[in-house]
Amino acid sequence: MTNTPNKLNICAFISGRGSNLKAIIDACENNPEFPARVSCIISNKPDAGGIEYAKEFNIPFAVISHKDFNNKQDFEAAILDALSHEPVDLICLAGFMRILSPYFINQWGPNIINIHPSLLPKYKGLDTHERAIKAGDSEAGCTVHYVIPEMDAGDIIVQRKVPILKSDTIESLEQKVLVQEHTAYPEAIKVIADNHFKKPEPTPTKVSSKQQTELSENNWINFTNFVKYGTIATIGALILLALLLL
Ligand code: GRF
Repeated sequence: MTNTPNKLNICAFISGRGSNLKAIIDACENNPEFPARVSCIISNKPDAGGIEYAKEFNIPFAVISHKDFNNKQDFEAAILDALSHEPVDLICLAGFMRILSPYFINQWGPNIINIHPSLLPKYKGLDTHERAIKAGDSEAGCTVHYVIPEMDAGDIIVQRKVPILKSDTIESLEQKVLVQEHTAYPEAIKVIADNHFKKPEPTPTKVSSKQQTELSENNWINFTNFVKYGTIATIGALILLALLLL
């Protein structure tokens, strides 16, 4: 896939049905102004449902199964190699069920983000909806955050909340949160892309030494004028006062 100027190139990592991937593709496809595009997709599962979206939208994809490698290092080396064949600015983990090593994460610096189905920092890890219901929480939600070596702990980009009703089950809550995920993820991508393409702030113009001399001369003239006219006004006021008293 070729690069497109003014569009952030996304590689989505998936392991399953890919509904978040689809939401991201839709955001990119349905709005020509959206500042990102999905340039490639990597799945660690050959049967991930989300691969169908890669085919439907003609997006290059690679299946890199962790099971084909003896260790994480080799698995990640294969992913890094795949990434080097497509333009990629941002990795979006969208239901990717492997934990990336600190080595991999550090290679990509701040350019990996993830969506997690809880209101982080609450409920890192799995079974988030069940834990929120069991805890008697009144609200749940989702969080799009930067990925750092500590799991589900990076800075938050976007967070969305939903109320937990007495009638909610794990499934109904998951469904409600998922609806929010599908708008939260594109919103977070837009925030990052807008920031990426933002024109740099104009740097303050340097004042030349000649201008500096002129400025300080002007300041001096202003100061002496202030003293001169201030003195005249004070003397005038004193004379007036003396005349009034006589
Ligand atoms: C989502 O709930 C997401 O928050 C979590 O994994 C799930 C992936 O769903 N990280 P999908 O594959 O995007 O439909």
